[in-house]
Amino acid sequence: NTDGSAAVPPMGWSSWNAFNSDVDEEKVLASAQALIDTKLRDIGYRYVNIDDGWWLKRRQPDGRLLIRTSHFPSAATGADTSFRPFTDRLHAMGLKVGIYSDIGRNSCGQIYTPDFKNQPEGSVAEREVGLYGHVDQDIRLFFAEWNFDFLKVDGCGARGLPVDAPRVKSGLYRALTPLVDMQSLGGSDIGGIRGLYEQVHTALNTHAGDRPYVYSLCLWGAGDVRAWGKDVGNTSRTSDDIQPVWPRMLTNLDTVTHRALYAHPGSWNDPDMLFVGTGDFDAAHSAEARSHFALWAMLNAPLIIGYDLRKLTPDLLAIFGNADIVALNQDAAGNQAVLAYDSSEVQTFVKTLADGSKGVALFNRTASPAKAVLTAEQLKMLPTADVRLKNLWTKKEQSFRKEIAVTLAPHETLIFRATGTRRLPGGLYLSEQTGRVN
Ligand code: DGJ
Repeated sequence: NTDGSAAVPPMGWSSWNAFNSDVDEEKVLASAQALIDTKLRDIGYRYVNIDDGWWLKRRQPDGRLLIRTSHFPSAATGADTSFRPFTDRLHAMGLKVGIYSDIGRNSCGQIYTPDFKNQPEGSVAEREVGLYGHVDQDIRLFFAEWNFDFLKVDGCGARGLPVDAPRVKSGLYRALTPLVDMQSLGGSDIGGIRGLYEQVHTALNTHAGDRPYVYSLCLWGAGDVRAWGKDVGNTSRTSDDIQPVWPRMLTNLDTVTHRALYAHPGSWNDPDMLFVGTGDFDAAHSAEARSHFALWAMLNAPLIIGYDLRKLTPDLLAIFGNADIVALNQDAAGNQAVLAYDSSEVQTFVKTLADGSKGVALFNRTASPAKAVLTAEQLKMLPTADVRLKNLWTKKEQSFRKEIAVTLAPHETLIFRATGTRRLPGGLYLSEQTGRVN
């Protein structure tokens, strides 16, 4: 496994969903301040991550990367640029800070947008800002000089160019982006891509010094990353980008549901950032927003807020700030929830917690009300003794024996913490009330 540090899934905020490449210092600092003012920092949201868009798409002749000082004025230091004043400031606020790069020669921003041709100065090599060919130099800059704590490494090039995209088809665009992709990394040579991600890991161990770091892989579907991601990074994306629409949330969820065995302290499946607050998950869609959040928590996903926190409402804060649900996600045992029941409509997820109690989520995937039954058996608890449930949204408590039927509103997730008489290996049961084994 990695020497990085993510004993529990990382929590925090990222610039991407709200701002895309138009990230700037003011927006990031405002979101950081909001984490503090709302006390979200105090329940674990500590990482403030800058995603794509921070760099000037040109290296200095010696290969040093430059920050886009039009967007990060505090980074201007004469001819050079530095994020150190910025990370110092966030560290002083009790936060940790993340940065973004790409494993290939360029970032998605360069590959998928026409920006690149607007940066005509410099040789082609100077216009390549991805890690390829610069791993040690860049990681040294990010961690030893700039003091970042978190690194997301995208795989735009390694995922291959979408050859059907009209932009990419145009001869001009192709000439300007002689990039990355699988060919330049050795065709379908899996070792090539894995090897590059491993080089980054080695460089992180060298340049992060004694500071813990988080290494986040953003590759999905290429270079057989599903087989090795968990051994190389602390989080490993399982799907394409989340979008603020219900079917996309379901798709991303489904890519992690059957991968529970891959999740463990230090290494987590990543179905992408939270889109709570936007589109189908905005304040007017509270069932959807709550489901998205509850499911990410249960599946040990990183809880990285993608919302512009300057606009945070009490309703949204009540979701991100639900400390009982956050506690399920951050539970020390690190067990990802598994499916205890699955129809095409309703899914029941059960998560075994460090103290032996269970997190349980009953999820209605459909747009109509649905009935669901939770059984003691699904919780591996004795059916003839009381099973106590605490509803983590309403905080109401109730008990049942054997089974309980509930009705779920459209797209609703009921989420509970369950305690009862647990089944132990060998067919024995441990009563939490008496502490006795039968
Ligand atoms: C693709 C990633 O999946 C996104 O999360 C984001 O980092 C963009 N690239 C940035 O270009």
